[in-house]
Order: sequence, then C-alpha cells, then structure tokens
Amino acid sequence: MSARPQYYTRTAQLLHWLMAFIFITAWFIGFYSGNFLSYATDGSFKTTMITAHKNIATPILFLIVIRIFWRYTHLTPSLPQSMSKPMKSIAHVIHWVLYLILVMLPITGCLFSWSAGYPAPVLYLFNLPTLIEPNKHLMAIIKPIHIYLSWFAGLLIVGHILAALQHHFIDKDNVLKSMISK
Ligand code: HEM
Repeated sequence: MSARPQYYTRTAQLLHWLMAFIFITAWFIGFYSGNFLSYATDGSFKTTMITAHKNIATPILFLIVIRIFWRYTHLTPSLPQSMSKPMKSIAHVIHWVLYLILVMLPITGCLFSWSAGYPAPVLYLFNLPTLIEPNKHLMAIIKPIHIYLSWFAGLLIVGHILAALQHHFIDKDNVLKSMISK
C-alpha cells in the first residue's frame, strides 16, 4: 500500500477552493434575492440577481463530478493521529454529506427553474438541456427542498470552516495546510 501524502494534490486544492468560492457567492446571491428582493418592488433587478445566481451555481454540477472522480483515484492525507476515532468518523460523514449536498443543491435548483418554466444557464454561455416541462405542482415541492437544503448546506459549511480554523489555530495540526500548500 502506498504511503498517504501530507498534502492534497494541486488539482484537489484548486477544485476545493474554486467550489468554495462558487458555493459562497451563489449562496449569498440566492439568499439576498430570495429574502430581500421582490418582483413587485425590485422587478428586473431581482431577475438579474436570480440569473446571476443560476449562472454562477450551475458549474458546480460539472466540478463535483471531476472532484469525486479525483477523490477516488488519488490518495488523500490522513486525519491527524491526535483526533479520536469518533471525531474522525464524524469528519468523514460530514465530508460525504457535503459532497451529497453539492450534488443535490444544483440539481434541485435546476428542477426548480425548469418546473417554473425558466432555463438553467451556465456561466452566461449556454443553457443546460431542459429535462422537464413546466409543472406548478412539482415546483411547489422542489422550491422548499432547494431552500431548506441551502440553509442546511450553509450551516454545514460554517461548521466546516470553524473546524478548519480550530485545526489550524487551536490544535495547530496540518489539516488546513494540507489544502493550501505543497
Ligand atoms: C451550489 C449551488 C447553489 C446554492 C448554494 C444555492 C443557494 C440558494 C439560496 C441560499 C437561496 C435562497 C434561499 C432562501 O430563499 O432563503 C436560493 C434560491 C434560489 N435558487 Fe439556488 N442555490 C444553488 C444552485 C442553484 C441552481 C443551479 C439554480 C438554478 C439553475 C438555483 C435556483 C434558485 C432559485 C430560482 C432561487 C429562488 C431565488 C428567489 O426567489 O429570489 N439555485 N439558492
């Protein structure tokens, strides 16, 4: 068996930080548009914001496939020996839940848009093929799923960031560095 590396590969690091940037930007735009803008008073500005939210978020769908492929085909650093077994198990479960959410959020977002009769655009370049017809009943189900999932994802990401900071500043181990340096 090959020895586990001390650092993630440059590709894994790039995918991690790129997706973190996209996730956080899409989250704040979605949150702002969903909770502070209305069609009645903000009209076209709300449309612009939702369009930006979609264009920024959809690349996650492509990146997560590459990322999971990379995760399975490359060795990753081990968690520090100072961590207890239960803590290591919790960390692993949270990482897989994060991957799952990064798949589910863009999928529910696209289903939400299509069911409402709108496209799912990617980086202002092209639209994803529309897989379902407009459907009010489906929209009524999928909209709250996207919203609650986004809230759950936001909480998990905050926990993930706090854990990374704890590793770096309190435990003073290699966990955060393994995702930054080489
Ligand atoms: C990483 C991916 C994504 C994240 C983190 C995310 C996050 C969010 C958040 C936080 C909200 C606001 C929830 C609230 O009202 O409190 C939202 C709303 C929304 N999202 Fe997403 N989303 C993602 C992907 C997508 C995608 C790919 C689409 C469609 C192609 C989409 C379509 C929408 C729409 C239409 C709304 C409603 C906005 C409004 O009512 O103004 N989302 N999303």
